[in-house]
Amino acid sequence: MSDLNENPASTNSAIKPSENKHDRADDAIHEKRIRSFVLRQGRMTGLQQRGISEYLPKLGLTLEDGAFDATQVFGRKAPLVVEVGFGMGGSLLEQVQAMPDHNFVGIEVHLPGVGKLLGEAGDLGVDNLKVYHEDAVEVFNQCIPDNSIDLFQLFFPDPWHKKKHHKRRIVQPPFVEVIRKKLKIGGRFHLATDWEAYAEHMRDVMNNAAGYENTATQGDFVPRPESRPLTKFELRGERLGHGVWDLIYRRTN
Ligand SMILES: C[S@@+](CC[C@H](N)C(=O)[O-])C[C@H]1O[C@@H](n2cnc3c(N)ncnc32)[C@H](O)[C@@H]1O
Repeated sequence: MSDLNENPASTNSAIKPSENKHDRADDAIHEKRIRSFVLRQGRMTGLQQRGISEYLPKLGLTLEDGAFDATQVFGRKAPLVVEVGFGMGGSLLEQVQAMPDHNFVGIEVHLPGVGKLLGEAGDLGVDNLKVYHEDAVEVFNQCIPDNSIDLFQLFFPDPWHKKKHHKRRIVQPPFVEVIRKKLKIGGRFHLATDWEAYAEHMRDVMNNAAGYENTATQGDFVPRPESRPLTKFELRGERLGHGVWDLIYRRTN
């Protein structure tokens, strides 16, 4: 297996902290260059290939597009939902269809998943979804403006089970601080996982992060809200007898 610190398939050039005007939280992410993913190889199906070739030009965004202006990109003002790590895109596409009065941005590094979502969304003709095939850390640092997101979703992120890999978990203090700034005041950060130890880690990181309040009325966790469709990973987790833990925090300042 290749060194987990390498990301051979990434086409994004590294940004040196000194080249950016970002604050210390952003720089901390850059300096360590610890990736929350390892790109998996896999053959692309016909639909996935067509999704990329036919719909990426219309529904895709890249780092090179620069600052993301939702009103200009979608041609309207609407609440903005951003999801990182949508996998094969099934639950995101359900939401996109169920909430046509919301604008959605999905960010995913796994090309077959991007192709599948684009193929299905493109064939359906949805007009309230844009997709980045990029590392979310770069998208947040380079493109998403502060105070712009109404709802940020992180569903079943890789739990990185082994202790020596825990640093690869995407939910870390610098990351949740970046997300806080991208949310509008009052905007929500919704996390879900089927891995209990990661649920506890998420809860601890979020409860200790400044500028967030937990929306749970009893304890820390909330029942799955209607807005979150069941995902492939959740169904698999259910079959394995795992529980599922949802956390929803609101940006307070
Ligand atoms: C365990 S999968 C869950 C997929 C989906 N949310 C679901 O529940 O079926 C986690 C996904 O997050 C993606 N991912 C991890 N780190 C990422 C990052 N920094 N930027 C974009 N995607 C990322 C991975 O490629 C993977 O597809």
